[in-house]
Amino acid sequence: MIEMKDVWKAYPNNVKAINGISIRIKKGEFVYVVGPSGAGKSTFIKLMYREEKPTKGDIFIDEINLAKLKERAIPSLRRRMGVVFQDFKLLPTLTVFENVAFALEVIEENPASIKRKVMDVLEIVKLKNKARSLPHELSGGEQQRVAIARAVVNKPEVLIADEPTGNLDPDTAWEIMDILDDINHRGTTVVMATHNKDIVNTIKKRVVAIEGGRVVRDEVRGSYGYEA
Ligand SMILES: Nc1ncnc2c1ncn2[C@@H]1O[C@H](COP(=O)(O)OP(=O)(O)OP(=O)(O)O)[C@@H](O)[C@H]1O
Ligand SMILES: [Mg+2]
Repeated sequence: MIEMKDVWKAYPNNVKAINGISIRIKKGEFVYVVGPSGAGKSTFIKLMYREEKPTKGDIFIDEINLAKLKERAIPSLRRRMGVVFQDFKLLPTLTVFENVAFALEVIEENPASIKRKVMDVLEIVKLKNKARSLPHELSGGEQQRVAIARAVVNKPEVLIADEPTGNLDPDTAWEIMDILDDINHRGTTVVMATHNKDIVNTIKKRVVAIEGGRVVRDEVRGSYGYEA
């Protein structure tokens, strides 16, 4: 479970990005985070994987309070959470296989088990046949599928995505959604910030709308609610 209790975030330049958010996300939920540009969606997401620390309030990932988490405990937190970005962030000199394997906990892993785990997730994102390709040899949608494979290879409880379809054409965006939905159905909690009105209005999920750093709407099977 993810829980925020009266969370505030002001950046060092004194921009108040999050202004008193309390929210609970249960294990296995799929949540869209929507809202206008500058509303605080990315900040909300960054607080969840401890890229940013709250100025005030508590954020729990199960029993771990991110507001109190020691720096040295961050890597083990990150292993429990997969993160996907709009711009993929693949390592350009590594193959698809290597990009995914790189995210695996290398300690205690023998080559055969690494290979099995990587090929298993490449199967989920339908990219087994591209395992030896380099990122620049792939389409944008394929690159995002590699990024998703990398994010889920450690079987995280939570997958966090900040505009994962933002750089993709509409058809490719739907393919990515199919994969995120599939991963969610396998038990992973998914939290996804998005501006994609069609997707939010078609694949109905919980919608949390943020404006001015506050939750202004939180609906089960909600809609996008803004003009795209
Ligand atoms: N690192 C930072 N330092 C200072 N201010 C920041 C930083 N990151 C974001 N902000 C400010 O915080 C506010 C919220 O930004 P955030 O990126 O969370 O919005 P967003 O909802 O993700 O917007 P978009 O839809 O454009 O991605 C904005 O006013 C932004 O300028
Ligand atoms: Mg953003």
